[in-house]
Amino acid sequence: MFNRIVLGTYGPVAKIFHWLIFLLLAAQYAVGSIMPHIGRKTLDEGWVHWHLLIGAAIFAVIMARFVWRLFHPVALADGLTGWELWLSRFTHLSLYALVFIMTVLGWAAANARGWDVKLLGVITLPALAPKDSSWGHEAGDIHNILVYVLLGFIALHVAGALYHYFIKRDQILQRMLMASSP
Ligand code: HEM
Ligand code: HEM
Repeated sequence: MFNRIVLGTYGPVAKIFHWLIFLLLAAQYAVGSIMPHIGRKTLDEGWVHWHLLIGAAIFAVIMARFVWRLFHPVALADGLTGWELWLSRFTHLSLYALVFIMTVLGWAAANARGWDVKLLGVITLPALAPKDSSWGHEAGDIHNILVYVLLGFIALHVAGALYHYFIKRDQILQRMLMASSP
């Protein structure tokens, strides 16, 4: 389709995107677990407001990261066996997809509660679901389930990184560390 140079390893931009998403997700999980249970009377304030702000940031960064990745493909490391190649591709793709789907569902759920989702607290994103719509509330229910599915994939991904470092003792973990040069 278009000429792309496949890089041998991750460059600084890919690493910054990776660790920025890691930090934002860690903050989002922390806020999501301490914010009050969201019911009919809950207001868009306090931790709930932080959840929407961080969520909008995750949405923007994951989109930018994915588009950037499309134009800067990175080959998987040499020396992976068949199942390792398959599992890492599947896990990476699932992580991108789940983060994207979670943000869209959370955004729709917020709209269904009558809240605006604002990028950087300033730019109001278009409403994905009308206030009180049943699909918006269902999006919230699915969002609350995917919280655990995404966590499971993150655990699988981190287990993979540790497997490479401690068991296979190859250089895969180092490929994503800021200190290692391409
Ligand atoms: C990948 C990013 C996200 C993660 C990890 C995350 C995590 C969470 C967690 C842990 C909860 C509490 C679940 C519970 O009480 O059982 C929650 C609920 C919620 N989140 Fe998120 N969230 C994300 C993105 C977003 C975004 C982008 C928005 C909106 C802009 C959002 C809006 C909401 C709303 C409205 C609820 C309450 C859902 C309901 O009960 O209707 N979230 N989220
Ligand atoms: C302590 C936490 C983490 C560690 C140690 C870690 C480590 C790594 C490593 C070493 C790679 C490169 C794999 C390879 O060369 O084949 C990688 C890639 C990746 N990681 Fe993580 N990661 C962590 C957290 C996360 C989280 C929370 C996400 C959630 C979205 C994530 C998403 C990804 C994705 C999507 C890739 C593939 C990048 C690409 O090829 O575009 N990582 N990670």
